[in-house]
Amino acid sequence: MKRLHAGFLPSVAVDPAVDVPLYLQLSEWFRQAILQGQLRPGQRVPSTRRLADELNISRIPVLGAYEQLQAEGYLETFTGAGTCVARAIPDDLRGAGRSPRTPSSPGQPAGPRRVSQRAARMRAPEQTWLANQGAFRVGRPALEQFPFAVWSKLVSRHARHMNADAMIYGDPAGYSPLREAIADYLGAVRGVRCDATQVLITTGSQQGLQICAHVLFDHGERVWMEDPGYPGAHQAFHTAGAQLVPVPVDEDGLDVAQGARLAPDARAAYVSPSHQFPLGTTMSAARRMQLIDWAARNDAWIVEDDYDSEYRFGGRPLASLQGTDAHARVIYLGTFSKVMFPALRVGYMVVPRDLVRDFHAGRDAMDTFTSLLYQRVMTDFIREGHFARHIRGMRALYQARRSAVLDALAEHLAGRFEVMGADAGMQLAGWLPEGVDDVAVSRMAATRGVSVRPLSLCYLGRPRSGLILGYGGASPEEIREGVRELSHCY
Ligand SMILES: Cc1ncc(COP(=O)(O)O)c(C=O)c1O
Repeated sequence: MKRLHAGFLPSVAVDPAVDVPLYLQLSEWFRQAILQGQLRPGQRVPSTRRLADELNISRIPVLGAYEQLQAEGYLETFTGAGTCVARAIPDDLRGAGRSPRTPSSPGQPAGPRRVSQRAARMRAPEQTWLANQGAFRVGRPALEQFPFAVWSKLVSRHARHMNADAMIYGDPAGYSPLREAIADYLGAVRGVRCDATQVLITTGSQQGLQICAHVLFDHGERVWMEDPGYPGAHQAFHTAGAQLVPVPVDEDGLDVAQGARLAPDARAAYVSPSHQFPLGTTMSAARRMQLIDWAARNDAWIVEDDYDSEYRFGGRPLASLQGTDAHARVIYLGTFSKVMFPALRVGYMVVPRDLVRDFHAGRDAMDTFTSLLYQRVMTDFIREGHFARHIRGMRALYQARRSAVLDALAEHLAGRFEVMGADAGMQLAGWLPEGVDDVAVSRMAATRGVSVRPLSLCYLGRPRSGLILGYGGASPEEIREGVRELSHCY
């Protein structure tokens, strides 16, 4: 029996009141639908009986139309498999039904059309380096080490027992057992001071950034941004209408004194103090105190992006900024994208107690709530101990991969790649020599199957040329090979 693929049938339009026989109306409708691409080659069409029933007409005109369409080569019938659109429509038929403007091929505009200025400024250059999945794709965890057996057991457990509560609209703040599990985890591991009522589940921390922007700033208000910094945060705040103020980052983190000089009246500061993105530095204790003090005195907020603090290999582990803030000025963001996998799209935020209502409203306005199935699965994954075990395993693995990158860089790129911030996380950054264009290097590397992200694209102010290498998702062999390839790119 031939395999036919099912597709959606657009509603068939025939009108018994019109003075054209029904079989002709039907055959003309099918012809046009096929030629205009609404019905695809090989797509199954309804049986004559079903179509006649659906249209509430006799079966005879349907039979007549199908016979004619078969004779013309538009439809074909397979014994036992029904009738489908012909797999190959002759070219001379194709020309016949084309009209200059059809629903499936709307007229192409002559040039670019107006969109908002914000959208126009958001367009990124062509990111060729995102084409490859091996070394050194930023943000790719060691997926081959993911505990699939446990995870799929938990997914199927929850998929099998879907009661009504799991299928209706949920709480915008998130699934409360997960909020409790996260509050316990953050309290124990990151020194975050909160209870579950302050935890909100988000569809990734990108959404946490968007919610912050909508809840905390009004249009045109100024926000300090680490420079260089996380492009996702630039996008989220910029599209919400905030005015971004680039504040330089040095080895102690964001330069608070500079920020205070550049924009003393800013409404907020965005920081990644545990592992600055992209430079990898850790914000010093003195800078943390300075930042909290500035926020408290200026009625400003601090958005703390703690995206990969689970992985720390050297230096002193510092608790979260939120945990040291006596003024409740910090909104803390976290994500499961690094410790689990990015397609999970589950993140979380911890908000000051007095802002809980505002953040609930802001979160509700975004996408109502995060898909419940994975929230439930994630709760069990944490509560049954798999999460802590997985993090322990990955920490050892990433530490070994980090050593492999550092060794390979020392062997093949000594003096040509000045490494920054390799103490934590799943990626490191490095400066390129004067005059070397990082975008050009990234493009060249992409043609050799290596993904390295240009550092210059993380700047709002004057860019410096460098590369970000994500090593989490690359095996030691891929790392060695990747660095060797990279050494031929500049
Ligand atoms: C600095 C930073 N924040 C947040 C995220 C995670 O975002 P999400 O949870 O939306 O996947 C990333 C991911 O690359 C990141 O680099």
